[in-house]
Amino acid sequence: MMQKDYPNNVISLIPKIADRKTVSPQEKGVNRRSNTRIIAITSGKGGVGKTSIVANLGYAFGQLGKKVLILDADLGLGNLDILLGLAPKYNLSHVITGEKKMTEITLEGPGNIKILPASSGIQELTLLTTKQRDHILAELDLLIEPVDILLIDTAAGISSNVMHFNAAAQEIIVVVAPEPTSITDAYALMKVLSINYSEKHFKLLVNLAANSSEAYEVFRQLSMVADRFLDISIEYIGNILFDEKVAEGVRLQKIVTQVFPHTQASRCFASLAKNMDKSPPRPISGGRYQSLL
Ligand SMILES: Nc1ncnc2c1ncn2[C@@H]1O[C@H](COP(=O)(O)OP(=O)(O)OP(=O)(O)O)[C@@H](O)[C@H]1O
Ligand SMILES: [Mg+2]
Repeated sequence: MMQKDYPNNVISLIPKIADRKTVSPQEKGVNRRSNTRIIAITSGKGGVGKTSIVANLGYAFGQLGKKVLILDADLGLGNLDILLGLAPKYNLSHVITGEKKMTEITLEGPGNIKILPASSGIQELTLLTTKQRDHILAELDLLIEPVDILLIDTAAGISSNVMHFNAAAQEIIVVVAPEPTSITDAYALMKVLSINYSEKHFKLLVNLAANSSEAYEVFRQLSMVADRFLDISIEYIGNILFDEKVAEGVRLQKIVTQVFPHTQASRCFASLAKNMDKSPPRPISGGRYQSLL
């Protein structure tokens, strides 16, 4: 297996995902040898704000002094670089073909964040083989050591790429908007991750709500159905309120938290980062982390 080719003093992101159905969350933790916190941001339904959240949460963590790396795992339609006004010459497609190493495609973003850009418009990348995906994760292992937080921006949907990157993370944040289709798709995503990948713990972040009670109601509905039909736990980690400045930031290709730090959404991002910083995944022996159980 490819993992053997890499030094064993680095974090391992390859929890035998090829036969993931048999891998427990504990096993994931056992392989990890660093304190890097690995968080996937995912959604089921598209367009609910994953990429905006990854960029802003990453920036907010950076403001807290954390070294942040963002992996754009929306491999066929990556647009994190556009959101940040970056123009990468190389991207993850070059790592997959073996032309470049991760270090050679890493971009400096604003604040304390670094970005691994994806490509856009290469359809084959939406259907990577297990070997290709493991290659990305193994390459990532080689540079991840000095990183405090790795954020993974997944594609929408329940493709094997999406599942694979979620399964590689310690924490899975499911982003949901207050609308029935988004709620249904978030449920479907958690169902597949639970049944096929043994993921039992999810964090829920409601985006685009008008106010906190509307956001909490989304959590209540989802957890009620999940309690009844799925063997999972959902932790509510808060909300990012609808804020026109987010779209304005996108048009300016700047992070809203950076250019409009006092606007409503920026305040939500800052407090989300602070709260998450206060509740890291439980460490296991040797200072390593495992998934929250
Ligand atoms: N809190 C918010 N308030 C207002 N607009 C928002 C907010 N969050 C995201 N948006 C807007 O929603 C749109 C979609 O956001 P984004 O691209 O981040 O979603 P996504 O989930 O990554 O989409 P995809 O599934 O296509 O990758 C963008 O135009 C963005 O400006
Ligand atoms: Mg996106």
